[in-house]
Amino acid sequence: MKPPTTGTERHRTRARGPATALAVIAAGAVALGLAIPAHAASTLKAAAEARGRYFGTALTRGDLGISAEVNLAAAQFDMVTPGNEMKWDATEPSKGSFNFGSGDQIVSFAQSHGMRVRGHNLVWHAQLPAWVGGVPLNQVQGVMENHITTEATHYKGKVYAWDVINEPYNEDGTLRQDVFYRAMGSGYIAAALRAAHAADPNAKLYINDYNIEGINAKSNGLYSLAQSLLSQGVPLHGIGLESHFIVGQVPSSLQANMERFAALGLDVAITELDDRIQMPADSSELQQQGTDYGRVVNACLAVPRCVGVSQWGVDDGHTWIPGTFPGYGAPMMWDSSYQPKPAYQAALSALNSGTSSPSQSPSQSPSQSPTSSPSVSPSRSPSASPSPSSSPIGGACSATIKTINSWGGGFQSEVTVRAGSAPVNGWTVKWSWPGGQSISSLWNGRQSTSGSSVTVSNESYNGSIAAGASTTFGFTANGSAATPTATCTSP
Ligand code: XIL
Repeated sequence: MKPPTTGTERHRTRARGPATALAVIAAGAVALGLAIPAHAASTLKAAAEARGRYFGTALTRGDLGISAEVNLAAAQFDMVTPGNEMKWDATEPSKGSFNFGSGDQIVSFAQSHGMRVRGHNLVWHAQLPAWVGGVPLNQVQGVMENHITTEATHYKGKVYAWDVINEPYNEDGTLRQDVFYRAMGSGYIAAALRAAHAADPNAKLYINDYNIEGINAKSNGLYSLAQSLLSQGVPLHGIGLESHFIVGQVPSSLQANMERFAALGLDVAITELDDRIQMPADSSELQQQGTDYGRVVNACLAVPRCVGVSQWGVDDGHTWIPGTFPGYGAPMMWDSSYQPKPAYQAALSALNSGTSSPSQSPSQSPSQSPTSSPSVSPSRSPSASPSPSSSPIGGACSATIKTINSWGGGFQSEVTVRAGSAPVNGWTVKWSWPGGQSISSLWNGRQSTSGSSVTVSNESYNGSIAAGASTTFGFTANGSAATPTATCTSP
């Protein structure tokens, strides 16, 4: 497989129905000093959908075999971009011989979990099999159009959007002199977009690139091209801003840049968000990464034509960053043990905070919602669970476990912890699994497990609950969905 980037590029700085999960999230928001609405969603996808956006991830075929990773992806995201499986080297490794097996696996995973798909990509200078470079220049257009037509027809009706053209620009705002440019000049872009539109008229067609997130020479070049394509009636619908950032370096002109493309009548999307840190990452860098993720999400929310944000991966243990940018890592919202990082809390808080202009892009209706069992098993700890008298502000609490999503072999739950008539300062929730379930990832709480017994205590930021108020934590688990009775105690 060809390396995705050259050495010089190393400087560069990734549904279901309406949200059903409503909860008060203290997580992160308190730390960030943000106001939270009374009903906040507890997953990225639910929170994004409530704001008229999607929240996506990239998955490879290899990722599909890692259950903890895919369970987390299915719980949190409602859009999937295949990491490599729809690229030219995977789909047409030799001339005229197509292979869609790996891409199909990603699509069926997405469909079976109510997620949509961003097709990625049709025309790119990298991960391009060597045979294309050997095609006589006067035949390149035919080869390119055949590739696009065959692939976009195969996935017709199954992708929300296509990155038709990937990474066409040099840093100075000129087009790369790749085989497509050498054969057709800049006209290859219009030809590719037209071929894709003819094959799948309902897919949103994008040009996608990196280092075009801020206003600079490269994004200026793309802006001029977009203006020119639109004035010629070429079917271009969106601009993908990859957003492979270095911690602390999100461009200040990100929102203004998205706004100028939107003003042309285009959708914009954050397509490959990650935020890498020189390893080892320290806690202030992880906090800064949270600030960065929050800024990116807020920029998207501020621009009505920004349709969604996709992270390029799920967790720090499975990301392209260390392999491509040696010495860097930790770019994701979850660490390599699938624990949420400040970046997750910041992204979720941004989605749950304030009001934004709703997305204006007519987005496809989300795919069918997979089975979910909204059974609620209210469980109150004995009201006579008195706090020790030495704890003047302690009080009884109750916990309710609710299943908010389930899929073959796993499920996601939300647990509401409510204070009784007195405020609670610190809480512990316990339950037992009835049938061998096990937690794969838990957020907004600290977990300890012994056999089938689970104990979850508050984090530092969500231990205090006012009288009658509540907070939530959530988890994904392996096994069949269960709503055991939970008890809550507070000191
Ligand atoms: C990356 C994949 O994540 C890697 O697995 C692969 O080795 C190289 O490509 N810009 C893009 C993506 O548009 O396709 C790239 O994905 C990351 C940079």
